[in-house]
Amino acid sequence: MACILLTGATGYIASHTWLALKDAGYDVIGVDSYVNSSPIVLNRLREIGGFEPQFVQGDVRDASALDRCFELGKQFGGVRAVIHFAALKAVGESVERPLDYFENNIGGLLSVCQAMKRHGVYDVVFSSSATVYGKPESLPITENAPLRATNPYGQTKLMGEEMLRELERCDARWHVAYLRYFNPVGAHASGRIGEDPRGVPNNLMPYVAQVAVGKREHLNVFGNDYDTPDGTGVRDYIHVCDLAEGHVAALRYLADKGQSLTVNLGTGQGYSVLDLARAYGQACGREIPVVFAPRRPGDVDACYADPTHAFNAMGWKARRGLNDMCVDSWRWQSTNPNGFEG
Ligand code: UD1
Repeated sequence: MACILLTGATGYIASHTWLALKDAGYDVIGVDSYVNSSPIVLNRLREIGGFEPQFVQGDVRDASALDRCFELGKQFGGVRAVIHFAALKAVGESVERPLDYFENNIGGLLSVCQAMKRHGVYDVVFSSSATVYGKPESLPITENAPLRATNPYGQTKLMGEEMLRELERCDARWHVAYLRYFNPVGAHASGRIGEDPRGVPNNLMPYVAQVAVGKREHLNVFGNDYDTPDGTGVRDYIHVCDLAEGHVAALRYLADKGQSLTVNLGTGQGYSVLDLARAYGQACGREIPVVFAPRRPGDVDACYADPTHAFNAMGWKARRGLNDMCVDSWRWQSTNPNGFEG
């Protein structure tokens, strides 16, 4: 079976993808600097998956760290494709420190592509985001909707896509799967890995999880006058294990079809902030107290995917519902209240 290099390997989405790849029979090499993740993830992968993680600690901007990964891959017949997860991802922080975002996200992607070329590997799966659609003009969002960035983080995803498209145009050996993630939430069903944000969570479900476990008093609902059924923001939450399986499907597509692919990875179903808080309350057996607060700058009313193309192209669709997302998040949060380091 083919060997896959994961960058940002100990992060939230990559760690779940690592397990999905092993389940599908792939060999995996991981690289991460631990800038936003914990080495304990490797122990948990060993424990859940019963395999020895092949791992290099390093930054993707460090060519020698990447070369070590490709060297490690030789024992498995050589790296065949790269899934490039490693990136900074906090919108607010990106506005405060745009240069860090360009350096890490654009510099990191450039370095990964250069390493791939050095080692004769041309299949890459790129972690893009629904953020590339900016404020959507119509819903559900299809892949040919107009693209625009509304903050430096979003700009790095858009620039990443453009850089890779240009590379493809110049050299037909490159094949890219552009995966536009909607809102990844939940955790592995084992409860042993999950999202472990540092500091105050920016995103909704990790915040709700911390309210549920008693670390925060209530959820601040950012805005209740949006143009949505209950006035709170609507998003397309997708279980991280469904998302992980989307990466396996994308790799198969690249290998089988030998062509590039741009797909939304979402469920197609929108839920409001209050829907999610209610569902989480049921999962944890305790109502989530909410307080209405002003809108968060830059937020849109509603954002959800048309996932049809992902199904037609790769035969993939999300299988897990909102209840699974909440139950699995709660299992992780309640048994690891302080995350990996706790
Ligand atoms: C955010 C990012 C997006 C990124 C995605 C995944 C912004 C503007 N967008 O998406 O670029 O790709 O995360 O990391 O930050 N909410 C509350 N209270 C909270 C937190 C959130 O009411 O404490 C609301 C938000 O207003 C929104 C919904 O919950 O309506 C989802 O928010 P969030 O989880 O941050 O995701 P997005 O804003 O969709």
